[in-house]
Amino acid sequence: MRILGIETSCDETGVAIYDEEKGLIANQLYTQIALHAEYGGVVPELASRDHIRKTAPLIKAALEEAHLTAQDIDGIAYTCGPGLVGALLVGSTVARSLAYAWNVPAIGVHHMEGHLLAPMLELPENRPQFPFIALLVSGGHTQLVKVDGVGKYELMGESIDDAAGEAFDKTAKLLGLDYPGGAALSRLAEKGTVGRFIFPKPMTDRPGLDFSFSGLKTFAANTINQCIKNEGELTEQTKADIAHAFQTAVVDTLAIKCKRALKETGYKNLVIAGGVSANKQLRNGLTQLMESLNGRVFYPAPQFCTDNGAMISYVGYLRLKHGERADLAIDVKPRWPMMELSEI
Ligand code: KG4
Ligand code: ZN
Repeated sequence: MRILGIETSCDETGVAIYDEEKGLIANQLYTQIALHAEYGGVVPELASRDHIRKTAPLIKAALEEAHLTAQDIDGIAYTCGPGLVGALLVGSTVARSLAYAWNVPAIGVHHMEGHLLAPMLELPENRPQFPFIALLVSGGHTQLVKVDGVGKYELMGESIDDAAGEAFDKTAKLLGLDYPGGAALSRLAEKGTVGRFIFPKPMTDRPGLDFSFSGLKTFAANTINQCIKNEGELTEQTKADIAHAFQTAVVDTLAIKCKRALKETGYKNLVIAGGVSANKQLRNGLTQLMESLNGRVFYPAPQFCTDNGAMISYVGYLRLKHGERADLAIDVKPRWPMMELSEI
């Protein structure tokens, strides 16, 4: 069984092919980052139009990469939600039209289930076994999920305001970095002085597994203003010191909540996924945490942390194999709680 996966939920067009026996055999990605950077954030209408330009050529490129033709494809998976409605409609329309033309089944995939199961694309020894706790940290979501199998998800906690990636991007913008600044902020933080600034760890002083990151952005803004008052213009070193303090607060907060979720469930495996899981300090912090708890942390390869078609083709494969099918109607779910997914 070979499944073509199409991701168009936000600002990346991703197309991949997952083969039941060989694993991932094609992976094509086009990022719109340069298109949106001059506006400081994703412009939905521009995103949709660019997906229209890129989806069909990437499908062609994926088939060429795998040395396949349309006749070799047994099903088409596409991101059905959550995400930007116009962007989702492009992938959904292309996927369902092709599935109709090629006479193969289609399946709408949940973007966050894609992220959550992305570590399954790694070598067998690096794939997590169920059950595990998943920390999903992307530009739009921060969630702690109890995972007992594919589709067996229980939400344990989530952000009540900004997502972790969003907080990274907004703080990066305050530091003068281009959108999306998460990765750039983390590179800057590597040069930061440990302990020069101490940022608060939001909502860690009370029980519970929810997160709040919007206050950190405000704290960063106040710190920046104070430094400008004291030093005049911000020096590169001060920027790095602020980036380091911000990142440390986010990482420590996430680690504290992961530890609580692991304690509550008694689970020994932790998965981190979504764009922010590419963050080195977060990976190191959670690796140390799991060593201290005699457990193990799993994460996707860097190219599968951020949005991609590979994770969509993999989840599509699992669900199509299980017999799930989308009907002919083109529908998308811009808001779609992951807990509504069925178990397989
Ligand atoms: O999962 P993703 O590609 O898209 C969504 O589904 O939202 O995540 C994108 C987010 C952005 O906020 C980006 O700044 C952040 O992930 N990100 C990072 C890093 N790499 C990407 N944040 C912190 N450190 C990184 N190395
Ligand atoms: Zn994503």
